[in-house]
Amino acid sequence: MKTDNYKNGKIKIQHGDAMDFYDLWESPVVIISDGPYGIGGFPGDPPTHEKLAEWYEPHIKKWSEKATPQTTLWFWNTEVGWATVHPVLVKHGWRYRTCHIWDKGLAHIAGNVNGKSIRKLPVVTEACVQYVKEPQFDIDGHKLSTKEWLRHEWKRSGMPFSKTNEVCDVKDAATRKYFTLSHLWYFPPAEAFEKLQRYANRHGEKSGKPYFSINAKKPITRKEWAGLRAKFNHEHGITNVWREPSVNGKERIKNGMKSVHLNQKPLKLMHLIIRASSDENNLVWEPFGGLCSGVLAAMQLNRHGVASEIDKNIFEHAMNRFENYSKTSKLSQQSSVQ
Ligand SMILES: C[S@@+](CC[C@H](N)C(=O)[O-])C[C@H]1O[C@@H](n2cnc3c(N)ncnc32)[C@H](O)[C@@H]1O
Repeated sequence: MKTDNYKNGKIKIQHGDAMDFYDLWESPVVIISDGPYGIGGFPGDPPTHEKLAEWYEPHIKKWSEKATPQTTLWFWNTEVGWATVHPVLVKHGWRYRTCHIWDKGLAHIAGNVNGKSIRKLPVVTEACVQYVKEPQFDIDGHKLSTKEWLRHEWKRSGMPFSKTNEVCDVKDAATRKYFTLSHLWYFPPAEAFEKLQRYANRHGEKSGKPYFSINAKKPITRKEWAGLRAKFNHEHGITNVWREPSVNGKERIKNGMKSVHLNQKPLKLMHLIIRASSDENNLVWEPFGGLCSGVLAAMQLNRHGVASEIDKNIFEHAMNRFENYSKTSKLSQQSSVQ
């Protein structure tokens, strides 16, 4: 199979530099970044973490341009690699949510540690860090965060903040949660937002209407409000420590006896992050595809997916992976029908 593009239902993988594709891809709901780690792991991966911030910046800039407030970014790296890139992510508008630690367990280093030369404890982890792209509201040349903007709009209406509790039918939760500037701030649920918006537009000072509007023409609706933050589907029993061995057995893609890609991520972890941050038919980006585990997981979860991989050989292995997956899933469908 010799092509630079591979399509299969809702997913597409492309051979080339991700920088050449961002402008062509639709806005993502999920971005899975599993690129260079600063360990010289593959051609183009800087030999140390020091150069990672510089390497990632053009990509991060593009992600920021194409992301919406619904987008979640999952940034995989070594702990120090992530620490190095974090300021660049913040500079381009990404807000840190949580650092997840992938613990591959002792088996990952079994037989590989030379106690005489190592001079540090062996590493069996990677970080997968969740970021969101919060909206910014342009007010008189200033950029306000959602919590600042909510206060700003209520203040403009000329009514006291204490009124918000009455409007939301709560004792003090509105002032304590939705209109505080502290870290205890809480995104008002859609129904509370709708009550506040309606009340302000009915009873606020006439001259300032509309309140809670982005376009100065009409207020934000309940549905639009719900779309102003990243998706998150909570599942009980999952924490920020993920105990999962490195990929092995049938899942590991091999060329003869040799693993094709040392960084192949477990589908189980890709499923976890995609389920948590998207719904069916949403779009998942995987700019540094490798064997495109993120896009394969997206396909299995009925999402759309796009990936790019710069290395031709790896790209071809990724295409074969999808072909084989399609064949085996068709076969298993046929046998379950018979
Ligand atoms: C850590 S691996 C990804 C592994 C993948 N998550 C998986 O499970 O198979 C990173 C991949 O990004 C590719 N890569 C590096 N720079 C790239 C770029 N600018 N555009 C597209 N792919 C790139 C590398 O060739 C490498 O295969």
